Amino acid sequence: MAKKISLGVLVSGRGSNLQAIIDSINNGKLDATIEIVISDVKDAYALERAKKNNIKNIFLDPKTYISKQEFENEVIRLLKENNVELICLAGFMKVLSSNFVKEFKNRILNIHPSLLPSFPGLHVQKKALEHGVKFSGCTVHFVDEGVDTGPIIIQAVVPIFDNDTEEILSERILKEEHKIYPKAIQLIAEDRVTIKGRSVFVKNVEEKDVFLINPPLE
Ligand code: GRF
Repeated sequence: MAKKISLGVLVSGRGSNLQAIIDSINNGKLDATIEIVISDVKDAYALERAKKNNIKNIFLDPKTYISKQEFENEVIRLLKENNVELICLAGFMKVLSSNFVKEFKNRILNIHPSLLPSFPGLHVQKKALEHGVKFSGCTVHFVDEGVDTGPIIIQAVVPIFDNDTEEILSERILKEEHKIYPKAIQLIAEDRVTIKGRSVFVKNVEEKDVFLINPPLE
């Protein structure tokens, strides 16, 4: 059993990925503790989910800080005060500054609802439909100084069908997000992940080999 990794989760909205992380911890599939949930949106439902699960949670109002840097400094302070080892962005809508990313180099993860590097940024399910791609999916990646550009840990693929709407596609992708985000965190908890350049290598369980994979989900 891996040592429990301590997480800080940053959110802005409904928090279904936060819930997936909580559920994976509760059902023993993820060796982690969530030390703090931080939201930059007051009525984010993610905060309710944290409360219901007795997880420390806090709303930081960006408007009360004189600059983005001051806001981020407070986030950094809270993460450090709570001994967070790995930061999980779960629907957090702010782009982190390079100062923040440097502070936690290779210790920030994000989940994105497309097959990166296709469709970074916002409204990506709509963009995938408009582009006419036949498959989309989701990506868990390390956060670097760009937007959705960091080294990719796991991706899951979903098909796109003729009658898909943005909502239907988003829902199909979201189901996969909820599987791959806890899985990626568990790989890091097990200390099986190495970054080389843009590539992420995952050790197999026996640690005999190091290989580049989309790790099996079960
Ligand atoms: C997800 O689609 C995630 O990929 C994206 O924002 C959405 C957050 O959803 N980054 P939720 O708040 O986790 O339900």
